[in-house]
Amino acid sequence: MPSNTSRRDLRVLFVTPEVHPLIKTGGLGDVSAALPAALRSLRVDVRILIPGYPKVLSGLKYKRKLANFSTLSQYPPSTLLSAKLPVNNSVSVPVFIIDCPGLYQRDGGPYSDTSAQDWPDNGLRFGLLSKIGAILASDASPLAWHPQVVHCNDWQSGLVPAYLNYHSGKKAASLMTIHNLAFQGIFPPGSVAQLGLPSDSFNMHGVEYYGNMSYLKAGLYYCDHISTVSPSYAEEIQSEPLGFGMQGLLSTRKENISGIINGIDTTEWDPAIDPLIPRTYTSKRLTTKDANKKALQLAMGLNVDPEIPLFGTISRLSHQKGCDILLQVAPELIKLPAQLVVLGNGMTEYEVEFANLSKTHPTKIAAYIGFSEKLSHLIEAGVDGFLMPSRFEPCGLNQMYSQRYGTPPVVHATGGLLDTVVDCPSALLTNDGNASGFLFKDMTADEFMKTIQRAVTAYDNKKVWRRLQKNGMAKDFSWRTSAVSYREIYLSLLASNE
Ligand code: ADP
Ligand code: GLC
Repeated sequence: MPSNTSRRDLRVLFVTPEVHPLIKTGGLGDVSAALPAALRSLRVDVRILIPGYPKVLSGLKYKRKLANFSTLSQYPPSTLLSAKLPVNNSVSVPVFIIDCPGLYQRDGGPYSDTSAQDWPDNGLRFGLLSKIGAILASDASPLAWHPQVVHCNDWQSGLVPAYLNYHSGKKAASLMTIHNLAFQGIFPPGSVAQLGLPSDSFNMHGVEYYGNMSYLKAGLYYCDHISTVSPSYAEEIQSEPLGFGMQGLLSTRKENISGIINGIDTTEWDPAIDPLIPRTYTSKRLTTKDANKKALQLAMGLNVDPEIPLFGTISRLSHQKGCDILLQVAPELIKLPAQLVVLGNGMTEYEVEFANLSKTHPTKIAAYIGFSEKLSHLIEAGVDGFLMPSRFEPCGLNQMYSQRYGTPPVVHATGGLLDTVVDCPSALLTNDGNASGFLFKDMTADEFMKTIQRAVTAYDNKKVWRRLQKNGMAKDFSWRTSAVSYREIYLSLLASNE
């Protein structure tokens, strides 16, 4: 790989299992579009590599065939295509797509089938993503474009650094970003041979993880640098309980860990121009926000009442997101009085419980069980306060979308939530400060409810509430600063690789 790289010709391959708007199950999809777009604005030549799920193939126009991979003995034949992904009409990001009908051409989600069961061949599906990532990042690549850094995201691309470790030729430096340490990509020991990795890699100093293999552990062990998506989470994962068994490895590599807060796409999430909400507004015209509240109450069958505090949440319905404590407080919350709207899907028991709650209290609690980009924008614009009682949260995006939409969030003080929301102390009732939401420390229904109560007290004081809304809306959540931090990491990796 050439030396003396200037910022301008820095080449990065960004390997990801999802990218918005083609395919998204959570924040990784958003980050995989917005971060590469921000890096391209900084003149980094970043290109995305993604599996060719049906929605990826149908969502991209003008695909070009670049190479065939018909001789990878462990994997079915595949073709590498290229296209351009337009991100918010201003930047387009080149994308490489792995077209492998045997592994990706099927109905369902990227990780699971239509009944939410993990695909039984996920090991191979993301083994192939990693394998091709490693080929493109080495001198075995059939392409003329050679990245100097390969940026891996979550367990699905965790084998890239492992494959690169066993490649004897020239190769890119690797960065492994942890978006969520709870998802570790664990497969039986026999997978090592199936994936074409040498048997001696099945070792504590390698891909082995408590008797199985873990794609994430492999990535964290073999990569050149580790990052995660907030400074607080970078600390939290180096010890129990949030290290999820990886704390030992992570604390031995702590000199190589960076915590970089995610940004948001400030064009797509902008209440002043958002085409997905009935009435656009700015911090100077916050009364217009009320029209969105009315539209949301009508759409969800809630009582139309401009005065009642309306809370909302948009979430994967999971233990991580604190759905259990939200379910516990919901009957109390509506007695305040207040209303609640929930948009989410995930664990069946939570889906059923939220649906039942809304049937029991149809004018006070509304639940839409499913995934809806459009409704997610209407909720951010229409609710008064956003609830995010996540047990842990590597970064979290909705608390930032909320602040940008003048919707103060009520969040558990953990990870990225702690790093992006400033608590409104009671003192703010008399002075301005820079508070933008509400934080609670103990992960209990009681503490959560007390904090919601605090939010309602603030809501009842229109002056205080406006200040909170404006403070949140004035914050800079754009990717610019964080994209510069990623570029600095890439450059430092190059320097140490030379
Ligand atoms: P995570 O990635 O852990 O799910 P984040 O807060 O980082 O959490 O990102 C979640 C993203 O997915 C946000 O853009 C959020 O609006 C979106 N999202 C989650 N669930 C839904 C849903 N049911 N419908 C629409 N968007 C959703
Ligand atoms: C993960 C995390 C979330 C983070 C997102 C994007 O899904 O759970 O906190 O915002 O990745 O990095």
